Amino acid sequence: MIKKINILTKEDKYSIEIETNSIKKKIKHIISNNNNNVIFLIDKNVFNVFKKIKNYNKQKYICISCSEKIKSFNFYTKLTQKILSKGIDRKTILVAIGGGTLGDLSGFIASTLLRGIDLILIPTTLLAQVDSSIGGKNGINTIFGKNLIGTFYQPKLVIIDPYFLKTLPKRELLSGYAEIVKHSIIYDENFFNWLDKNSKNLFNLNYKVISRAIYKSILIKKQYVLKDEKERLKNRHSRAVLNFGHTFGHALETYYKYNKKLTHGEAISIGMIMASTISYNLNYLSYKNFIKIKNHFINNKLPIMDNKMYDEKIFKIICKDKKNIDGKINFVLLKNIGNAFLKNNINLKSIKKLIK
Ligand SMILES: NC(=O)c1ccc[n+]([C@@H]2O[C@H](COP(=O)([O-])OP(=O)(O)OC[C@H]3O[C@@H](n4cnc5c(N)ncnc54)[C@H](O)[C@@H]3O)[C@@H](O)[C@H]2O)c1
Ligand SMILES: [Zn+2]
Repeated sequence: MIKKINILTKEDKYSIEIETNSIKKKIKHIISNNNNNVIFLIDKNVFNVFKKIKNYNKQKYICISCSEKIKSFNFYTKLTQKILSKGIDRKTILVAIGGGTLGDLSGFIASTLLRGIDLILIPTTLLAQVDSSIGGKNGINTIFGKNLIGTFYQPKLVIIDPYFLKTLPKRELLSGYAEIVKHSIIYDENFFNWLDKNSKNLFNLNYKVISRAIYKSILIKKQYVLKDEKERLKNRHSRAVLNFGHTFGHALETYYKYNKKLTHGEAISIGMIMASTISYNLNYLSYKNFIKIKNHFINNKLPIMDNKMYDEKIFKIICKDKKNIDGKINFVLLKNIGNAFLKNNINLKSIKKLIK
């Protein structure tokens, strides 16, 4: 069954379609609807799926070995030149089939090539299906940090086929699941309770359960994106609330220099437990709910600690976070499961005390 979510921002209108086992049909449709004026960028790990399209080799496509490394100026230059050499015009549609790294890079390319060509995203990791392909943020990394260069640029269509997850390594599946749980914790207690009951089926690739989790998760992200597309609000509707768990999470990832020690999902899982601990110690979150969150993480093998998390360096990195304003640390905290808010002006000393 197809599930459809329409997104209407101030300037753009597009839809997100979720349908299991639909990808062949959808790709054929894209090709025939656009007079073959399409360039496909495809993650090497899902190329087999593209190969099943009849006469796929007559299409313009580029197969890419994807990791965080492709989100660089160097790769941007190489790839845009390859695309230009294939011949494009303002009507060309760029179709990105891959995880969040390819999606982020493709979004930046689409928004800058010929000052903007149309983009269709086909996310193939759980993380990309529930998070990075939604909301129009893209970006590349520099030596000064992650995602420091990029634009806000909405795709024309997002196609989600949960069937891609069949080949996704378990650790990557868990990484995406962390963002699903995050959405439930910040916005929807019933969804959290539902996940508590259904997560095992999700990890066993029950596509009905996965589709529902993806659908609910996107609806939550949509709420924040629509109210605060460019992340300018400073209240509980702020898009920054989606960064729950990310202050610590990003600091851990930076500490480990984005190596394989922690996936993004693992890093933010630890970050979510830190933020929940602070919320509990500041008497915003009840002990009962704090334990409920912690147990869910333990039961689903989401990490809740890392032996470097009290390292001085981690706190130094947190102080440099681009979300801080005027030297004060901003945190997303919880009043309840399903009710997150932005807490400004926390000082570092109290954070150290609150998490120990
Ligand atoms: N733009 C946003 O709003 C936003 C939000 C969250 C995260 N992100 C970005 O997303 C990126 C992480 O995305 P990711 O976790 O998808 O990483 P990724 O793109 O590196 O994919 C992870 C790995 O899975 C492989 N893969 C992809 N699909 C597969 C499949 N179906 N089967 C088997 N293997 C597959 C990839 O080749 C890669 O090796 C980060 O760069 C992060 O900054 C962006
Ligand atoms: Zn994240």
